[in-house]
Amino acid sequence: MGTRDEPTEPRASHCFWLLLLLWLRALESQACPEECSCYLSPLTVNCQSRGFESIPAELPSESKRVLLQNNRITAVPRRSSLHTSVSVLLLFSNNISVIQAGAFSGFTHLEELDLGNNRHLHWLVADMFRGLENLHTLHLYRCGLRELPDGVFAGLRQLQHLYLQQNQLVYLQVSTHEQHRMEKHSNQNRNQKEA
Ligand SMILES: *[C@@H]1O[C@H](CO)[C@@H](O)[C@H](O)[C@H]1NC(C)=O
Repeated sequence: MGTRDEPTEPRASHCFWLLLLLWLRALESQACPEECSCYLSPLTVNCQSRGFESIPAELPSESKRVLLQNNRITAVPRRSSLHTSVSVLLLFSNNISVIQAGAFSGFTHLEELDLGNNRHLHWLVADMFRGLENLHTLHLYRCGLRELPDGVFAGLRQLQHLYLQQNQLVYLQVSTHEQHRMEKHSNQNRNQKEA
């Protein structure tokens, strides 16, 4: 077999099988956690409602959307398996009480972060959102927050939606710079709606 004079057709089919094999290898290397489901484009890791008590030890390296809501996760450590490639991270309705400083450092692609309904969160580290330059939506509703550290939202240049309802906040200190920026954004939104 294969030594006869065969023109282009078999070569094309070899090429197809080779590509398929490479693609399967690539998929395999993404190593979806056993209890989760993974989908491609964009790479989504769905681990919601699986009873996780911590962030799964291994997540595919190019994950874009990581869904971890409705588990029993108690902390987001500084070094977790979360990759900085992630753009949507859903952690709502867990029992997170600790988010270590630096837990989200380097997450420059992060656009939406949902930490809502973690009723024992209570406090935030001042620089925990530092460097999230593409974050546009941040959910912190129903987190038992009593106060916010000064400048906790500083540097979130793209932030357009901030959800803080149902906390125990007694005052909100927003720097004039942040205020100016948010006003600009809300005006832009209004303009877009009118257009
Ligand atoms: C959530 O965490 C708090 C401590 O931070 C603990 O007291 C509580 O029992 C936990 N709740 C559940 C449902 O695990």
